[in-house]
Amino acid sequence: MIYLDNAASSWPKPTEVLAKMEECLREYAANPGRGSHQLSMKASRVIFEARRKVAGLFGVKNPDNIIFTQNATEALNMGILGYLKQGDHAITTMIEHNSVRRPLEYVRRERGVELTYVQGDGSGLISPESIREAIQENTKLIVVTHGSNLTGTLVPIAEIGAIAKEHNIVLLVDVCQTAGVYSIDVEEMNIGMLAFTGHKSLYGPQGTGGLYLHPEIDLDPFMHGGTGGYSELLEMPSTRPDRYEAGTRNTVGIAGLLAGISFIESIGLEKIREHEERLAFLLQKGLEAIPGVTVYGPALGEPRVPIISFTVEGFESHEIGFILDRNYQICVRSGLHCAPVAHETIGTVEQGAVRASLGWFNTEQEVEALIQAVAEIAG
Ligand SMILES: Cc1ncc(COP(=O)(O)O)c(C=O)c1O
Repeated sequence: MIYLDNAASSWPKPTEVLAKMEECLREYAANPGRGSHQLSMKASRVIFEARRKVAGLFGVKNPDNIIFTQNATEALNMGILGYLKQGDHAITTMIEHNSVRRPLEYVRRERGVELTYVQGDGSGLISPESIREAIQENTKLIVVTHGSNLTGTLVPIAEIGAIAKEHNIVLLVDVCQTAGVYSIDVEEMNIGMLAFTGHKSLYGPQGTGGLYLHPEIDLDPFMHGGTGGYSELLEMPSTRPDRYEAGTRNTVGIAGLLAGISFIESIGLEKIREHEERLAFLLQKGLEAIPGVTVYGPALGEPRVPIISFTVEGFESHEIGFILDRNYQICVRSGLHCAPVAHETIGTVEQGAVRASLGWFNTEQEVEALIQAVAEIAG
């Protein structure tokens, strides 16, 4: 079986991740931060270590500004719903995932927040100047992905961050498709909030993710409940991360995430990126040479996240996905990828697209097998 759906969830997971999760579950998966006995302390410690590891990955000085959530969607909702108020204006782009678009549309509908979508070019490329042009007096937030989960287009976050800083606007970045592959520094890029997910290129399990929150940004807590400490208060405490972490954290998952990031560190971001970019290049080149196949996103050789979306003339994207799975044992994703507006940008909203996304464990032979299979189907 060939797995090429790493942009949805990476698979397989490193053995270190499995081992860490099993160790946690067997030996100390007590309730973290809820007791002073040794198992609870051990569970708290693994979460603290993971917080430190995530902070290190994103250039965050104080790990308390990392809030663990169950996925990026929760983190994005926390940032968007917790920050935007009636009368505010937000800017986003046409290449966003529904986890950005839907909470923004919700605050537009329910709170009267104004919203501007910035259009990308035909390959989904977003120009920082178009973001600048959309700024109004009441603009409070810019929400943008670092890498499109459809076209693989990379967004120039540092340039957008500089514009946000210049206008005193908070920048919220969705790094679901770039964390663990590209280097990200919240200070250098002027990122006010950063939403990440654990189960893609950070190699953790599903049920993990989080939000980095700049120390000077205060959000209305998204959830209210127990935090272990400060139990006498009627409201959520003001200290971080407790203020934003109501309820028991996913200790076993977070232990796995810690091992996932340690695994990435043991190989090195650059090596991972080079490997995945090389495979993406070979795949794009091979698919583009097949008559009837259209590959979307940046031109061959241009920088891109290791995601290749394509269509085959005369076929629905779901048909291709089905044939690849049943006849060739190749797992890809087909359809709209939770990003319908991005499909409008590239003109594939009707038939959808087939998406092959690469990870550290993929090989050149697997890429060749996909090219061969698509050539047979298209021919
Ligand atoms: C760009 C992007 N943003 C957000 C998400 C949502 O991630 P999660 O499902 O982990 O919340 C995804 C997942 O597909 C994504 O690709």
